[in-house]
Amino acid sequence: MITAIVGNKWGDEGKGKIATRFTKDAKIVMRTTGGDNAGHTIIYNGAKIPLHLVPGGITVPDATAIIAPGTVINPTILLKEIELLKQHRVPGIDERLKLSGRAHVIFPFHIDADRLEEKVKKNPVGTTGRGIGPAYADRCKRTGVSIYDLLLSEDELCDKIEEETFLLNQNFANNGMADCVVDAKKLAHQYHLFGELLMPYIIDINPLLAKALDNDDNICIEGAQALMLDLFHGQYPMVTSSNCSTAGMLCGGALPPNVPMTIYAINKAYESKVGNGLFPTRLPSSTDFDVQPKELLPGDVIRENGHEYGTTTGRPRNCGWFDCCINNTGRTIMGPNYLCINHLDTIGKVGKILGSVKICTAYHYQGRVIDYFPDNTGLTKETPSPIYEEIKGGWDIDSSCESFDDLPSPAKEFVYIVEEHAHTPVKFLGTGPANDDLIVRDI
Ligand code: GDP
Ligand code: IMO
Ligand code: MG
Repeated sequence: MITAIVGNKWGDEGKGKIATRFTKDAKIVMRTTGGDNAGHTIIYNGAKIPLHLVPGGITVPDATAIIAPGTVINPTILLKEIELLKQHRVPGIDERLKLSGRAHVIFPFHIDADRLEEKVKKNPVGTTGRGIGPAYADRCKRTGVSIYDLLLSEDELCDKIEEETFLLNQNFANNGMADCVVDAKKLAHQYHLFGELLMPYIIDINPLLAKALDNDDNICIEGAQALMLDLFHGQYPMVTSSNCSTAGMLCGGALPPNVPMTIYAINKAYESKVGNGLFPTRLPSSTDFDVQPKELLPGDVIRENGHEYGTTTGRPRNCGWFDCCINNTGRTIMGPNYLCINHLDTIGKVGKILGSVKICTAYHYQGRVIDYFPDNTGLTKETPSPIYEEIKGGWDIDSSCESFDDLPSPAKEFVYIVEEHAHTPVKFLGTGPANDDLIVRDI
């Protein structure tokens, strides 16, 4: 049985927390797409651990944590993360962490290329600057270097790096970045050493997964990124460079589509987004102004109460009201059996400060009322205009709220409105950052 934890909006919905919780009932937890553009906050023994590559489920003793073929790996970040987990005394890292040899390598020149590509774009994406797009692009061009390639001889690795950087070096030289031209020999030496350090973790994951599937073991996929960032189905071009929707996650994990699976689409009780692109329910915030306004604006109220600053880049996240239209678009792409809504505590506090909580249930768009995120906004150049339902006031959620019945009635109303307009049952409600700060509904 596969449990897929998928991001349903623009990322940072709390996938790491939910996946870690599900790993308690799983033998295997996997990251299958993306790279260190992801930032998953895990609470382990009361301490916050920001993870970018290793699935948060590694903090569950006995679980095998796999970084799958569909990912792109910056070895420096991965090695630091292994150290961090060991510092936090997470047991058995060396035995339980497995890295697919088929994953691909992010080199420093990918990070430089990311910067160059953003620099020359009229409308930059606002990437995390981690070299994700250029690394996936090289993989598509079939010049990429895999993790297995780090185990080749230094000379063979050097040949591969030379091939990968042949055209890129010309781009650097022609665009004022001559200092970024790659010294393949030096890089091959350094990355060959990384290969030696990563060797204990590198495996062919197929036999391991075949055994797990034969035994009917539970496998938890910890999704990274989200629906609106998916390369094919998100808001192109303001997307990441992998297929991070449900089917893409299976593909990146070398998992077949015919295994019984439950899909949990993870949301927050509001929306947040880093990077550029349309965000219909976005609220004004002080980041819109050069001179800081005296009072907190509505977007600031959500950001400050939800601590919405990027785990990967530290960037302040833009914030806005919950958007059911995106959920509706996600129903065919993500296929959620259930929704999880994190930060029900935060939106209650926000409602108390702002006087109400709003939920977008439809858009005015092109003279019509629609209940999905349109896919031709690049053509129409129109931002869908949200239509809201409003719940007056807010609410407090304290430790006495252990079940749905314990929730204050406006919080329950929030859930009913989402269920009605997103056409998907809400099973989990996040009430705080820890793995167990979760109300599970009996539905
Ligand atoms: P991910 O990328 O989807 O794993 O999410 P992030 O870790 O980037 O961002 C989610 C943030 O919300 C983290 O700081 C979590 O600790 C925090 N969080 C998750 N669920 C809840 C919740 O229900 N309430 C509160 N207050 N914080 C939460
Ligand atoms: P998790 O797994 C939020 C966004 C970037 C940018 C766009 C492209 O923590 O939810 P990239 O560096 O991937 O080329 O950037 O995608 N982005 C994320 N936003 N959470 C993430 O991951 C993200 N991963 C990428 O901000 O808009
Ligand atoms: Mg995140």
